[in-house]
Amino acid sequence: MRTSAAILGAAALCAASSNTTEDGLVTNGVVSLGDWQTAFNKAQNFVSQLTIEEKITIIGAGSLTNSSANWTALGITDGPQGAENFYYESAFSMTCALAMTWDKDAIYKQGKAVATEFYQKGLQVLAGPVSNPMGRSAWGGRNGESFGPDSYFNGILGGISAKAYQAGGVIAGGKHFILYEQETNRTSSGGGMGGGMGGVSGNSSSMPSGSAPSGSVPSGMMLRVRADNSSSIVSGEDSSDTAPYSSNIDDKTFRETYLWPWYDIIKAGTGAVMCAMTEINGTAACEDESLLMGTLKSDLGFPGMVWPDQNGQKTALGSATGGLDYGSSSTWSTSTINAFLSNGSLTEARLDDMVIRNVIGYYRANLDNGEQPSKAEYDDYVDTMSSHAEIIRENGAKSIVLLKNEGGLPLDRPRRISIFGSNAGPVMGGPNMQFTVQGSGPTYQGHLASDSGSAQSSLPYLITPDAAITLRASKEHTNVKWILNDTYTASSSGNTLVTLSSSETAVDASYAGYAAASDACLVFINALSGEGADRTELYNNDQDTMINTVAANCNNTIVIISTTGVRLVDQWIENENITAVLYSGPLGQESGNSITDVLYGDVNPSGRLIHTIAKNESDYNVEICYTKNCNYTEGNYIDYKYFEHSNTTARYAFGHGLSYTSFKYSDLQSTKLMSNLSYHANGRLEVGGRADLFDVVAQVDVNVLNTGSRDGAEVPQLYIGYPEGSAADQPIKALRGFERVELRKNGTSQVKFQLRRRDLSFWDVTAQEWALPTGSFKVYVGASSTDIRQTGVLAM
Ligand SMILES: *[C@@H]1O[C@H](CO)[C@@H](O)[C@H](O)[C@H]1NC(C)=O
Ligand SMILES: *[C@@H]1O[C@H](CO)[C@@H](O)[C@H](O)[C@H]1NC(C)=O
Ligand SMILES: *[C@@H]1O[C@H](CO)[C@@H](O)[C@H](O)[C@H]1NC(C)=O
Ligand SMILES: *[C@@H]1O[C@H](CO)[C@@H](O)[C@H](O)[C@H]1NC(C)=O
Ligand SMILES: *[C@@H]1O[C@H](CO)[C@@H](O)[C@H](O)[C@H]1NC(C)=O
Ligand SMILES: *[C@@H]1O[C@H](CO)[C@@H](O)[C@H](O)[C@H]1NC(C)=O
Ligand SMILES: *[C@@H]1O[C@H](CO)[C@@H](O)[C@H](O)[C@H]1NC(C)=O
Ligand SMILES: *[C@@H]1O[C@H](CO)[C@@H](O)[C@H](O)[C@H]1NC(C)=O
Ligand SMILES: *[C@@H]1O[C@H](CO)[C@@H](O)[C@H](O)[C@H]1NC(C)=O
Ligand SMILES: *[C@@H]1O[C@H](CO)[C@@H](O)[C@H](O)[C@H]1NC(C)=O
Ligand SMILES: *[C@@H]1O[C@H](CO)[C@@H](O)[C@H](O)[C@H]1NC(C)=O
Ligand SMILES: *[C@@H]1O[C@H](CO)[C@@H](O)[C@H](O)[C@H]1NC(C)=O
Repeated sequence: MRTSAAILGAAALCAASSNTTEDGLVTNGVVSLGDWQTAFNKAQNFVSQLTIEEKITIIGAGSLTNSSANWTALGITDGPQGAENFYYESAFSMTCALAMTWDKDAIYKQGKAVATEFYQKGLQVLAGPVSNPMGRSAWGGRNGESFGPDSYFNGILGGISAKAYQAGGVIAGGKHFILYEQETNRTSSGGGMGGGMGGVSGNSSSMPSGSAPSGSVPSGMMLRVRADNSSSIVSGEDSSDTAPYSSNIDDKTFRETYLWPWYDIIKAGTGAVMCAMTEINGTAACEDESLLMGTLKSDLGFPGMVWPDQNGQKTALGSATGGLDYGSSSTWSTSTINAFLSNGSLTEARLDDMVIRNVIGYYRANLDNGEQPSKAEYDDYVDTMSSHAEIIRENGAKSIVLLKNEGGLPLDRPRRISIFGSNAGPVMGGPNMQFTVQGSGPTYQGHLASDSGSAQSSLPYLITPDAAITLRASKEHTNVKWILNDTYTASSSGNTLVTLSSSETAVDASYAGYAAASDACLVFINALSGEGADRTELYNNDQDTMINTVAANCNNTIVIISTTGVRLVDQWIENENITAVLYSGPLGQESGNSITDVLYGDVNPSGRLIHTIAKNESDYNVEICYTKNCNYTEGNYIDYKYFEHSNTTARYAFGHGLSYTSFKYSDLQSTKLMSNLSYHANGRLEVGGRADLFDVVAQVDVNVLNTGSRDGAEVPQLYIGYPEGSAADQPIKALRGFERVELRKNGTSQVKFQLRRRDLSFWDVTAQEWALPTGSFKVYVGASSTDIRQTGVLAM
């Protein structure tokens, strides 16, 4: 199907048209398919050979054998940290950890490596990238699964990940679409923890654990009753009485914050999108015709398949016309779909569209070339690990954020060190935990290297910090002591400083005693939350007491934090004895090595925060919503955009991170690259949205010099402020560029930030289009959202 000039002209009107189902058909020629065209042609040819019954089989996640056109149901599995639950595969950094590298190459490298493992396991769809939840509330239980609350950053990383997954040979399956920002009441309001088991609408008898509705899932697919494993489809025709919360949002905030990343994710070639189990403006996300057929498939030109999160499919007709393409075969039974076709409530054009969308990603990924190995069972000996441990260790170290350093790091041949906290060592039984979607945490009694629920890794092994540090320390003949517990009480002397002699090794194990006898005290803490429940705390009293006890007795106390979300530090951060703090997400199987590399300076830290660390819990403006209607009244003002808007001083700002060396910024230049730009974007509709949204219209350059005594990497960040008096109505600063540059000592580099039309635009709710204000944009380049080193102006 080619897009003619005449159709393109009509396309401009489509976003506002009421007949969104027809507009959203991939066959209608409105969207220029670009490099999807060949796959589309193959998909269309495939569909043309099918009977109605065969088409219904495919949209019901079924396989066709011995037909004129065979089809094996797609293998869809979580997630970005590795294919869930398999033996003989790698456990990579979790998304929030990887994101803290701010390193586009690292994100690509890991994404491709993970996807290669999926490919070799015989899986077709990797359920990622995870854009949403973005972290509207710091208490969101699944915030650690995504790239965080900045829309630009989230989109750039999501786009790179989607490209990388395809380079690894599989289909990127972005999630969650959309406005799925908390776990509480996610399956039913009043439904307690809102866990995935609630996805059966409270009727567990209809869905015994580990099985699926009869006939709904083809054999060979992985089954599990829980969220995010779309291989188990649960229908809930009667779920209205237990409907989940509704995210109610205005159009401007929706486009500018939450939908923003999806332009990049779709543009990058994502072939599948998982709709959320929750509601938007009172309509189920998987049945929202204006959202799925309109916004996603028309405005963003998405040509692929929409599939549901657990219990996302509510009704047969609502989901089919609403834009779901893949669902339960019991909900979409042959008789049901045939009845819709007969009475005209569903068109055969839409049925064909659904089938094309089910198979187009497969062709786009060249999975029809017959080369992919067949689907492995969890315990088949299919070793996909390759040399990925090196990538995991390297990316882990790159992602660690040095929050504070008053000379504590890097370690310089200490004679005696002590290691404190359960996060330093192995959990008593591990490394993998039991699967749960009922929430986890608030802490973990062992080293935290994975998340839980759908973001749980299958750790083949785990290098813990105590193991890696001991090995490293042994080479320098350092004496190493440990207490691998957060609440340890010494057997005889208690945890107060007693008159034990630090000149002897035979002393009682106590925080105070060991601390007093060490040159460097390493205190490890963690914070865990995961699918099924939101967080109950952003700091932990037991751990903070441990830190304060150690710091009271050790003037070189170094705190190492592993966390799935925001972890506050104000209970101890100002203590002068806390000489350094490291902060990261769960780093995967090589975690201890990555941390040790940074502690000893073998790697110079360059990680940067992807969220704001506040001084107090009450400094965050968005709490968990406990009502049916969750109104996004804060608008675009989440995370640093809110902190700036409200003059709230953060403890550590978005983008913050130190190095063992120092950098100087100079020579900021801003250049407009395109003139005669129209006010509204008006380019042709392509996959990812209007083509001109991606035009590079301006550039900002800055010089960065390594002024310190070590080689290192800096992450200069570009923030813009919209012209005064324009209709844009934007936060004071918005991130619009970042580049990680490695610089030898005394090395310099000119960093270029390219601004796309969309990066300078706002959503004009009246015109229903992106608008580019004229006037002077403020340009800020710095080392964090508040540490601005160079300012300038960009005239547009
Ligand atoms: C939308 O298109 C379908 C199929 O062409 C048609 O049956 C239906 O009446 C249209 N609806 C509206 C509101 O135009
Ligand atoms: C479909 O699969 C059957 C059974 O393997 C095979 O006999 C048949 O030739 C296949 N059809 C096509 C079109 O490949
Ligand atoms: C495949 O289809 C052909 C033609 O309908 C039939 O003769 C044959 O028995 C079928 N084979 C299988 C394995 O179902
Ligand atoms: C949402 O969940 C909370 C906590 O489980 C519960 O108390 C509340 O009743 C739920 N909301 C509604 C509208 O039922
Ligand atoms: C649960 O599902 C079963 C099987 O579909 C049905 O027989 C039963 O009535 C349902 N129970 C409730 C409480 O809805
Ligand atoms: C939600 O409803 C508001 C108010 O009617 C509307 O402006 C907005 O576009 C809707 N958002 C979505 C995502 O449907
Ligand atoms: C930590 O120490 C406390 C107090 O001695 C003890 O009760 C607890 O079981 C220990 N925890 C672990 C995980 O060993
Ligand atoms: C710092 O540690 C020293 C022991 O090295 C101790 O005497 C001092 O009181 C500690 N200071 C604080 C603020 O805890
Ligand atoms: C820290 O305490 C040690 C004794 O444990 C002492 O030698 C050293 O000078 C102290 N350092 C600072 C900076 O106070
Ligand atoms: C959300 O907005 C609706 C419509 O304005 C209002 O009825 C409802 O009370 C609001 N909910 C909350 C929790 O504020
Ligand atoms: C924040 O501070 C600025 C400058 O002092 C002031 O103009 C503005 O009103 C303050 N905003 C809030 C929300 O307090
Ligand atoms: C740093 O580089 C500058 C310019 O290349 C050079 O003049 C200077 O000597 C160098 N300084 C050091 C310490 O290498």
